[in-house]
Amino acid sequence: MTDYAKSLEKLKTSALGAAMTRAFAAQEPDAGIRNGDSLAREFLDPAARPPKNDPDKIAAFREQLEGALPGAYHFQNARTKHIDTRLEKALADGFRQVVMLGAGFDTRAYRFGESAPDVRFFEVDLPELQAEKKAKITDIFGSLPTNVVYMPLDFNKEPLSRLLDAPGFDRSRPTFFNWEGVSYYLTAEGVEATLAFVANQCAADSKILFDYMPSAMVEGTGAYYGGAESRDYMAKFGEPLLFGIEDDAIDDFLQARGFRLESCFGPDDLENAYLITGEGERYGRVSGYVRIAEARVL
Ligand SMILES: C[S@@+](CC[C@H](N)C(=O)[O-])C[C@H]1O[C@@H](n2cnc3c(N)ncnc32)[C@H](O)[C@@H]1O
Repeated sequence: MTDYAKSLEKLKTSALGAAMTRAFAAQEPDAGIRNGDSLAREFLDPAARPPKNDPDKIAAFREQLEGALPGAYHFQNARTKHIDTRLEKALADGFRQVVMLGAGFDTRAYRFGESAPDVRFFEVDLPELQAEKKAKITDIFGSLPTNVVYMPLDFNKEPLSRLLDAPGFDRSRPTFFNWEGVSYYLTAEGVEATLAFVANQCAADSKILFDYMPSAMVEGTGAYYGGAESRDYMAKFGEPLLFGIEDDAIDDFLQARGFRLESCFGPDDLENAYLITGEGERYGRVSGYVRIAEARVL
């Protein structure tokens, strides 16, 4: 296997792993805990899909993942709910262009597209991963939806400005960018190029929502709940963490790059907003090293 094929296999595994966690957490018995990604299961092999109405199997998956990577299951569930909430608000506020950067097996274009048919979604991903997703979407729906534009692109080789020429992309309209599960795997140059594109080449009032890690997590110097396990796992898996932002510096970091920070959710915020049971109890802990920022182009 070539190095490229190996790295592609890893990316696919990590995108599928994220879809699998969403699929299981979408079957949580408590309605206040489960996320709304009812389509994630469709990307999994039938034998790997979470059973419906079987809380014991959901608990077994959750406990296994939490045992290996403390906070990861609860983070991915809370992140799904948070991004859904913020996207819903963006659509209500009038955004009509949504770009998924490193879309993987994200299903929002299909879940939100039906109730917002005038919204155009653009999915950006590596050509091979995207081809696989398109085949699966065709299997699920019988054809590719007309409200989704697929943009095969390698962030490391091509400028994101190619998006400006994508069919139907209106550069004068504010755009909502979702950049989920990607920033920490990129080099600083990759992160800077993405933010510079959104800030300088997209309409004012465009927004970007992204998760990131503190520099101390990436450098291995900070102590965070689940941090050591997660770092070990990623190093062994061969997908090291490359990029982080100093804690308490996100506001200045974004301002210097042409954005105004609108919100930043850390573990406590995510737990309080998305992981409180019907009985009012906290369902689980989120990994200590996760942050989700939302920022608007100035
Ligand atoms: C961890 S997955 C996250 C997928 C999805 N956003 C989610 O949260 O489920 C990272 C995604 O970034 C994409 N990606 C990684 N490197 C890329 C590159 N150089 N160019 C384009 N996409 C890339 C991968 O193919 C994958 O879909």
